[in-house]
Amino acid sequence: MIVAVDGPTASGKGTVAKQLARHYALPFLDTGLLYRAVGRQVAINKGDADNAADALAACDFPDSLLDDSALRDEATGSLASRVSIHPEVRAALNKHQVDFANQQGGAVLDGRDIGTVIAPDADVKLFITASPEVRAKRRYEEMAKAGGIKTYEEMLADIIARDERDMGRDEAPLKPAEDALLLDTSDLTIGDAVQRAIALVDAQLRSRS
Ligand code: C5P
Repeated sequence: MIVAVDGPTASGKGTVAKQLARHYALPFLDTGLLYRAVGRQVAINKGDADNAADALAACDFPDSLLDDSALRDEATGSLASRVSIHPEVRAALNKHQVDFANQQGGAVLDGRDIGTVIAPDADVKLFITASPEVRAKRRYEEMAKAGGIKTYEEMLADIIARDERDMGRDEAPLKPAEDALLLDTSDLTIGDAVQRAIALVDAQLRSRS
């Protein structure tokens, strides 16, 4: 079974996807991490994230970079969003994702274009959303705990800018697949969101059998 989980930043999609993978005993890939590694490698190379050649060169990052805690910060998220606009970068990262999705036994992947590009024939497609204000609050609280220095307003502006870039790009824009099931987590705890997601997947599987 292939489960595609897409949605904007801080919607809860990462946690939901990870818990789905655990629940159904499937391997899991956080595809955002690949784009974050490219963004971070551009910075290490002192390149320009908006330059396609610099961004493509950064796709050759060492595997060890995937364990770098700096990948999780908002600055790297923003770089990831900038490098992910380039079709060359997306093409360089796609094969690994497609192979992961199509491995024997299936997989759960989370990202922005899993249901639309990477696994258009996925058995279940979820699109997880939440209002920008709720997402900014979540991200702000998470970053504040880690000693972050941004205000809530700055975080909200970052999130809105990232949404616009991800939804407005020509190549693989963030949008729900036509057959995606929508889950709005604005008023849900993460535990409730996971339970709803499991119920949606189970219902979809029952309707197909
Ligand atoms: O999911 P995460 O916030 O880690 O993703 C970082 C950025 O990488 C996103 O804002 C998006 O621009 C890009 N991305 C993408 N396609 C994916 C996963 C992430 O374009 N499948």
